[in-house]
Amino acid sequence: MSDQGAFDTNVVTVTRFVMEEGRRAKGNRGADNIAELHVHGSESHLVRCAQSWDSPPVSKQSYGIAGSTNVTGDQVKKLDILSNDLMINMIKSSFTSCVLVSEENEKAIIIEPDKRGKYIVCFDPLDGSSNIDCLVSIGTIFAVYKKNTDDEPSEKDALQPGRDLVAAGYALYGSATMIVLSTGQGVNCFMLDPAIGEFILVDRDVKIKKRGKIYSLNEGYAKHFDPAVTEYLQKKKFPRDGTEPYNARYIGSMVADVHRTLMYGGIFLYPGNVKSPQGKLRLLYEGNPMAYIMEQAGGMASTGFENILDIQPESIHQRAPVAMGSPDDVLEYIAICKKHGKK
Ligand code: F6P
Ligand code: MN
Repeated sequence: MSDQGAFDTNVVTVTRFVMEEGRRAKGNRGADNIAELHVHGSESHLVRCAQSWDSPPVSKQSYGIAGSTNVTGDQVKKLDILSNDLMINMIKSSFTSCVLVSEENEKAIIIEPDKRGKYIVCFDPLDGSSNIDCLVSIGTIFAVYKKNTDDEPSEKDALQPGRDLVAAGYALYGSATMIVLSTGQGVNCFMLDPAIGEFILVDRDVKIKKRGKIYSLNEGYAKHFDPAVTEYLQKKKFPRDGTEPYNARYIGSMVADVHRTLMYGGIFLYPGNVKSPQGKLRLLYEGNPMAYIMEQAGGMASTGFENILDIQPESIHQRAPVAMGSPDDVLEYIAICKKHGKK
């Protein structure tokens, strides 16, 4: 008799997974790229960021507001600044990337020539910052492109449609810490095991439900909703086809709301409204990476009129309305948007 059964000697860590996936892919763009990124250390730096946030260098003084607003008008928290510096320094020191776009920096960061690689990383270093001070889940979102010209790296290199992403994902700092990653071959989830400091593959090739039972949006803006959003919500709350009404859930951290949608099904919305027609969420480091994850999991992501991943970005901090989740839920929303027509 052996009691070794309780100890798994063959766990798949995120490091092992991306290297194996890269090797298996041989020619598959996304997996090759992420393997290469990994080999050069960038992905493991993202992992390190996530590990740091699981037990962040947090003292009472790290909470609170830094006293300014960022380029898109949000209040900047001290942890926003810390996580941004951490992401920038770790990606730079990986020698993998040449252009970085961060929610916290007005302009793209062009990496110094001696540290450059061929990737472009767009990220929201700490998503959901209004939830920091009350200890509700927050996260980090990232999207990776490959530079497609030989020119001097510039902000323009980041203006690629989400369709061209080679990898994207997020880290969620919730009841556990998890990295959700796609390199274009499905979606895989890795949970931090704090005992060994490694992210372990816990959910392979995750697929979203065809239809869910949850809608998720900030209904406090109901006064300013477009008629299509109002009609859609009415249908979810007072169904006329004999089905049960949907449940409402809204955390206010995109990472957490999208992750719940991925796990349980349903729809997450941040639509445009009369006051802000493009909504709030930023295309390059919120809409696109999450849309990529959703599509890779068999879900959909749309503005209501256009697939998020097909939008040609014009500026690095541009916003886009977002509806993503289970395909049948998103299709139902799109049908109502189309019926009302574009304003
Ligand atoms: O990054 C923006 C963000 O914090 C998202 O994480 C979240 O989905 C959204 O803002 C919440 O916005 P609101 O407070 O308007 O509902
Ligand atoms: Mn955010």
